[in-house]
Amino acid sequence: MGAPGCGKGTQGERLSKELGVPHVSSGDLIREIVLGGSEEAARFKDLISSGNFIPSSDVVRIIARRLAEGDARDGYLLDGFPRTLDQASLFADTPFGAGLQRVVALSIAEEALVERLGGRLTCLNCGATYHETYRRPRKAGVCDVCGHELTKRSDDQPAAIRQRLKVYHQKTEPLISYYQERNLYSEIDASGTPEQVYERLRHSLGLE
Ligand code: AP5
Ligand code: MG
Repeated sequence: MGAPGCGKGTQGERLSKELGVPHVSSGDLIREIVLGGSEEAARFKDLISSGNFIPSSDVVRIIARRLAEGDARDGYLLDGFPRTLDQASLFADTPFGAGLQRVVALSIAEEALVERLGGRLTCLNCGATYHETYRRPRKAGVCDVCGHELTKRSDDQPAAIRQRLKVYHQKTEPLISYYQERNLYSEIDASGTPEQVYERLRHSLGLE
């Protein structure tokens, strides 16, 4: 867990490869649905673009459906879920909820978040993320992984960034004490380069 732009996706992608488990990002799954253009897509599109959460019952259902796929049988890495107290308790009641082993929060100053989000480039085809300054693609505007065009996410505009930060403080921060009480929580400093953050993450998980 962590505020918008703290590096959940960047670190999650790398850690899931090292652990050999799927990286399950609620944001990526919701964006995939929005691109699909279903009835649900229309309901989620405005919420996500304005920086607001989609209903908890929907996101818990989407996550449970993903975790039921074969590649998640031996473990998974959740990114951005649960992010409210009601999601945490709804998830705890699914067949997957009891399996949660660790919750790691990436912590960083707000100015750095705004800078990271403002320069982010995303591949809507494969979900890979880049940054105009900190993680440039090999060829400008093109995804290194799949060759698709890179774009800015609709919620990486200043007004939506402000709203996402506000919602994070109001709705997600209360999860810190929820997971502290369950002895699952740890926090790492998410400033510095992606490599430095990854080393702290590995250390906090006892991977050395
Ligand atoms: P989601 O996609 O999860 O967005 P978020 O939480 O706002 O987080 P981001 O994906 O923006 O940031 P990140 O922490 O992954 O950072 P990244 O690694 O990309 O959710 C989007 C929306 O979906 C929500 O607002 C909501 O509408 C909906 N949603 C999702 N989950 C939901 C849920 N559970 N319930 C209800 N609604 C839900 O890094 C950011 C940038 O910084 C990149 O450009 C990256 O290259 C760069 N960067 C990363 N690390 C570093 C570093 N160490 N140094 C320099 N640059 C760095
Ligand atoms: Mg992300």
